[in-house]
Amino acid sequence: MLLQDSLHASLSDPTLEVMNFLNEIALRYPDAISFAPGRPHEKFYDPQQLTTYLDAYTRHLREARGFSEERIRTNLFQYGRTNGHIHDLIARMLEKDEGIRAAPESIVVTVGCQEGMFLALRALFSQPTDVLLVGMPCYIGITGAAKLLDIAVAPVTEGEQGLDLHALEATLEALRAEGKRPRALYLVADFANPSGRSLPAPERARLLEIAAREDFLILEDNPYGFFSREGSRKPTLKSMDTRGQVIYLGSFSKSAFPGLRVGYAVADQRVTGPSGAPHLLAEEFSKIKSMLTVNTSPICQALIGGMLVMNDCSLLDANQEAIRFYKENMDATLQSLARHFPRSEAWARDVSWNVPDGGFFLVMKLPIAADEALLEQSARQHQVIWTPMRYFYLGTGGEHELRLSVSYLTPERIEEGVARLARVLRGALEQRREGVARAG
Ligand SMILES: Cc1ncc(COP(=O)(O)O)c(C=O)c1O
Repeated sequence: MLLQDSLHASLSDPTLEVMNFLNEIALRYPDAISFAPGRPHEKFYDPQQLTTYLDAYTRHLREARGFSEERIRTNLFQYGRTNGHIHDLIARMLEKDEGIRAAPESIVVTVGCQEGMFLALRALFSQPTDVLLVGMPCYIGITGAAKLLDIAVAPVTEGEQGLDLHALEATLEALRAEGKRPRALYLVADFANPSGRSLPAPERARLLEIAAREDFLILEDNPYGFFSREGSRKPTLKSMDTRGQVIYLGSFSKSAFPGLRVGYAVADQRVTGPSGAPHLLAEEFSKIKSMLTVNTSPICQALIGGMLVMNDCSLLDANQEAIRFYKENMDATLQSLARHFPRSEAWARDVSWNVPDGGFFLVMKLPIAADEALLEQSARQHQVIWTPMRYFYLGTGGEHELRLSVSYLTPERIEEGVARLARVLRGALEQRREGVARAG
């Protein structure tokens, strides 16, 4: 028998149970309308596409790159270059879609963005005093990775406009006073998971200045940047980065499909060793990757490589229909919320929600606890599922908030789901009012 206490402390941390809990509730109520998963919609996928992408990539290797049949075979079937073999295509995509100029050698093709987070954290965090700053609420992929690597995390409050830069400066000062070194800041500047908020462009410039002055790196994670509701997109921090302060973490999970498990990191920072000759941080990432996943599946790289060559290295163009679909879903959710939580009715008056400019998520604020008991009741009695925001906070926070993910439903299901949610909340809120009246 193994004692739980004898295992790594992170394994007793409730954060690592969140996914299991959500999966379990979804399995127990398979017919429920679920606003929980941040999954892309499957209407964009067809198994036939896989062979088309693979064919397009092998044709590219043969015709554009002049590879022999033998070399193509090796490329697909063998262990490959640790940092990947589609780095040149990704570099072209970044320039076209994001205005990011990155040398192909500075790009590491990863097993999802999640591996990119591990590579960055393992490489950068070298001293016990090093601290990772994260906007709060925060994506659990990064806080979970930090926990597994025993890296200390300091939360920075988010305001309605994304990361609060005054709070950031106060946190930096407090950490320095304690003898800590703020090493890096992780953030999703565009349509964040879970809050849906985006950092305004002028604040991005100010954040880069603060990072330069305070000497920390920024880990910019950008899986949702394409999915603007208004049509306009803000520049990524990486495209504004003139001093090598930003490590860009990319994912193909939303712009292509999550089953690929392919992402990438742009690590173009210069590293100088004892010999004096500088090299790229991507080469250090390669050492870690060689011991973590060896290399990203060459077949999965070939699939996304095919998708890139078929779309002239622009996924933005390839995503136009998906961008429209997610915009319509967010619009439908906001309209349904306004309809089913009317300001004119007393029970709904203290329920509010934010209006994201895009992405997959929005947050509702309630005058009652949005906890597991309410979720259970919601799933059992009304067949509707959502995510308690509590899960995305370190310490306290989010107790009265819930996240709605709008990506995995259709507008019709959204309308029905919001109607059910209104029934759940109306019941719980009226019950509370009666309780308060009785106690009074
Ligand atoms: C903020 C954030 N980063 C990254 C990812 C995706 O990571 P991956 O590329 O490992 O699928 C997600 C997906 O939910 C996310 O919300």
